[in-house]
Amino acid sequence: MDTKIYQADELSEAVAAIKAGQLVAFPTETVYGLGADAQNEAAVKQVYAAKGRPSDNPLIVHVSSFEQVKAFVDNFPVITEKLVETFWPGPLTLIFPIKPGTLPAVVTGGLSTAAFRMPNNKKTLALIAQSGRPIVGPSANTSGKPSPTTAEHVYHDLKGKIAGVLDDGSTEIGVESTVLDLSQAVPMILRPGAITEEALAAVIGPVAIDGHLVSAEEVPKAPGMKYRHYAPQVPVQIVEGADWQAALAWAAARQQRPGILADQAVIAAFPAVPHFELTTDNDVATAAQRLFAGLRYFDEQPIDVLFVQGFAEQGMGVAYMNRLKKAASGNFFTSGT
Ligand code: TXA
Ligand code: MG
Repeated sequence: MDTKIYQADELSEAVAAIKAGQLVAFPTETVYGLGADAQNEAAVKQVYAAKGRPSDNPLIVHVSSFEQVKAFVDNFPVITEKLVETFWPGPLTLIFPIKPGTLPAVVTGGLSTAAFRMPNNKKTLALIAQSGRPIVGPSANTSGKPSPTTAEHVYHDLKGKIAGVLDDGSTEIGVESTVLDLSQAVPMILRPGAITEEALAAVIGPVAIDGHLVSAEEVPKAPGMKYRHYAPQVPVQIVEGADWQAALAWAAARQQRPGILADQAVIAAFPAVPHFELTTDNDVATAAQRLFAGLRYFDEQPIDVLFVQGFAEQGMGVAYMNRLKKAASGNFFTSGT
C-alpha cells in the first residue's frame, strides 16, 4: 500500500479513508496517533497489526467534543465537567466505566472501562468531526520505539502499512497525555504528562498516583505502562548533575563510542562527541518536546552508548523522567560503575 502524506488541502481524502475503515495517522499536541474508526472492529484490529502492539493494551478513543463521549458513558463523576472545561481540548485522557457493548473489545482490551481524549489540534478535530466518528489512536510508532513527534517519524515506522499521515509539523508537547482514571472513588494518575498532578489538584482536589510510578515493584494499572518502551538501538544511561566528564571517561575506558542528548552547555563542553541538543537553557519542557526525536536521531548514528540528561522530577520533569527511565531501563550513570 502507498502511504500518503496528506497536505492541508487534502483533509477530505483522510476523512474518506477513515470512513472506509483504513488507517490514518494524525497530529496532536502530544505525539502523532494512529487513527481508525473506533467502532469498526476490523479497522481497529489493523491498528494493532500495523504497530505490532500486544492486543491486551487498550486504546484511547479520540473525540472532537465532550458530547461524543456520552454515547459510551452513562454516569459521569461530578468532577468530569470541571476537568473537561479546564483541560479539553488538551493533553488529558480520562478513563470512565462504559456502557456494555458500545465499543468493540479490541478497543478496551476487554476492560469495562475506556479512555477518552479531545486532542488540541485543529486538523485532527476536523478529521474526527468530518468523519463523524470517534477515532482510536495509540501513538503512531512501531511498538517499543519512541513515539513519533513528526509526520516523518510516522512515515519511517509505518510506510506501506497505513493509508496516510496528516502532516502538521512537530508536536508542541512531545510526550503523551496524562492518563487519569475516573472509574474509582479517588481519581488516579496512571501515566504522567503535561497536565501535572498539581494542575489537576488545583481543579479537583487530591488525586492518587498509580503505585508503579513511585515504586518499581508495583504492576501498573494502565496495561500499556508495563511494556518496554522508547527503546533505542543502544543502551541509554541517565546522567545527572556534573557527571558528564566521568560518564565519557567510563565509555572511553570500555572503547564504547558515546552520544550525548543534553542541554547546549553540556554539548559545548564536549564538542567532539556526537550530540543532539535538547534545550538551550536547561528548560525541561523543551527537553520533553525534543526527547523522542533525539532518541530516534541516535538510532541512525554510529554510537555504542547514549548518555541523556536527567532533570528534576517536578512539573513537566515528572513526565520527562518517566519516559526517559523507560528508554534507559532505569539505568542512571554513577561514577562508581
Ligand atoms: O497523547 C496521547 O495520549 C497519544 C495521542 C496520540 O493521543 N496516545 C497514546 O496512546 O499515547 P497509547 O495507546 O500509546 O497509550 C494509551 C495508554 C496506555 O498506557 C493504555 O494502557 C492506557 O492508556 N489505557 C487505555 N485505556 C485504558 C483503560 N481502560 N484502563 C487503563 N489504562 C488504559
Ligand atoms: Mg504509545
